[in-house]
Amino acid sequence: MLRTHTCGELEETSLQKKVTLCGWVNTRRDHGGVIFIDLRDQYGLTQIVFNPAQNESAFEIAKTLRNEFVVQVTGIVEKRPANMVNPDLKTGMIEVNISELSILNNSETPPFEIKDKVEVNEETRLKYRYLDLRRSKLHNDIRKRAKIISIVRNYLEKKQFCEIETPVLMKSTPEGARDFLVPSRNFPGRFYALPQSPQTYKQLLMISGFDRYYQIVKCFRDEDLRRDRQPEFTQIDIEMSFITEDDIIELAGGLVKDVFKKILNIDILYPIRKLKYKEAFEIYGSDKPDLRYDLKITTVTDIFKGSGFKVFNDVVNSNNYIGCLVVKAGQNFTRKMIDNLSEKVKLYGAKGLAYCKKSGDKLETGISKFLTMDEQKKLIHRLKLDENDIVLFVADTYDITYTALGFVRTQLAEQFGLIDSDRFEFLWVMDFPLLEYNPEEARYVSRHHPFTSPKLSDMDKLDTAPEDVLARAYDLVLNGNEIAGGSIRIHQKEIQQKIFSALKIDEAEAQEKFGFLLDGLKYGAPPHGGIAFGLDRLAMILTKSESIRDVIAFPKTSSGLSLMDNAPSAVDEQQLKELHIKIRR
Ligand code: AMO
Ligand code: AMP
Repeated sequence: MLRTHTCGELEETSLQKKVTLCGWVNTRRDHGGVIFIDLRDQYGLTQIVFNPAQNESAFEIAKTLRNEFVVQVTGIVEKRPANMVNPDLKTGMIEVNISELSILNNSETPPFEIKDKVEVNEETRLKYRYLDLRRSKLHNDIRKRAKIISIVRNYLEKKQFCEIETPVLMKSTPEGARDFLVPSRNFPGRFYALPQSPQTYKQLLMISGFDRYYQIVKCFRDEDLRRDRQPEFTQIDIEMSFITEDDIIELAGGLVKDVFKKILNIDILYPIRKLKYKEAFEIYGSDKPDLRYDLKITTVTDIFKGSGFKVFNDVVNSNNYIGCLVVKAGQNFTRKMIDNLSEKVKLYGAKGLAYCKKSGDKLETGISKFLTMDEQKKLIHRLKLDENDIVLFVADTYDITYTALGFVRTQLAEQFGLIDSDRFEFLWVMDFPLLEYNPEEARYVSRHHPFTSPKLSDMDKLDTAPEDVLARAYDLVLNGNEIAGGSIRIHQKEIQQKIFSALKIDEAEAQEKFGFLLDGLKYGAPPHGGIAFGLDRLAMILTKSESIRDVIAFPKTSSGLSLMDNAPSAVDEQQLKELHIKIRR
């Protein structure tokens, strides 16, 4: 070892010891003939002192040190003078009086200073990611991610789960996003796909009799990126045999409980609450509601049956929905804020955001002039309105009404500071619809993936009312983020075929796309199911990071670029030729 101690461990217990440290020059201060340096490694900072009286030549070399030089120093641990004690630092009581210095490497002036709060744009930071990763917040968050993985592995291994790797070069699977493709050299015109998830493989492993599988695994999806999406991300992928929904829920709930206790020393509310998808959607306008604040949607369609307000009456007559949110004590909620929201809900397909305000025993402003006294009274009563409460309405189709109000709900929470960032609110969302209609393809498609089991009691609705068939699927939501999702799978070939026919996938297509899985189902497939966590999202929340980029060592930009190594990049003609590829320019 080049050192006896790290830069984060020396305390008063080490006084008068001779120690050797290695690290980076974090800051250098020249104080009237004495040089002070904060030496940094990933464990912390230690103040080292060069005094010409101690060693003239080391002092002379120390004068040449610049930020980010890498050095090895030897000296005696001493108590700092009282006025130089730094109580915020573990090593803040001591300093090391240096007698030997060797420069292990020098450094060019870095493009930005290595300190926690840097005012540098993200592009520069991503280009020099290896320097950005020296900053303590980012550095510690990446280490915390490793700790999360270790806790997860321990938890699962204790429960007899077996980690099995699955192929990265595979056949395209239907997870709903676009595949990344890899051209085959040996088979011109044929492609591997990178896995969107190991879904089919983990089911095949159940057929192979491994009844508790897990994998910390990279998944690849070519989709539009956001703050919580990357083209390559990591799942904690889990599958079990001979289980029901409750077993997966208990296992996955126990896992997050363990992780939160060990990482944040927080006891989460356990067992985790459950909500049916329909309720989540109608109350919070989302399938991943943020429960850190209350703010619920109320459906008031019935109040406006036969209303004189044409907008609402038309909506009721076409069997659509009127929902509303209440802004308590809305004195400070200006007309301008309402107009602003009213414009934004249009992005969600809504035609506007109607409003009114409670005043005395009636409603005022906005649409109140169109409402009868009876309608006003009913609203005041149903919504339990207090003086100055403002009601915001959306009247539209089922999906638009609730989605738009769900958006308004999150906007209100932000504008009124309703979000307590120290809270962690978990929720299981259950009973998702199995299918959704895709008007472009004029057919039903799976909401999850086509191997998700319907509720067996709903099977007879497959032909008559496909949209009413519920899935044996569940999502785990944390503070408005979907952190995991899974389902009980279809394990019988006949049911799988029925689903394919509901999806209008004919036998030949099914065989071509997932023949290998269908074949597997013929040979005694056990009942099975599983779940996958988005590890990056979980780590993002546990580290209070803004984006999943902050918990990924080498992330991509929102357009999928790696600014550090410039991927994706052009390749040479010979490589293309071997792959039988011609680029159209
Ligand atoms: P699903 O597609 O819901 O399920 O993915 C599981 C979890 O992975 C995370 N996730 C992502 N994280 C970052 N970037 C992305 N682009 C991204 N996409 C998804 C989410 C999500 O909850 N095979 C099934 C699981 C199963 O049924 O067992 C699957 O992949 O947190
Ligand atoms: P209008 O009569 O079109 O001027 O609309 C009156 C108010 O109702 C305006 O504030 C609109 O933003 C709002 N509004 C119109 N259509 C809807 C709708 N479908 N849902 C909610 N508000 C609406």
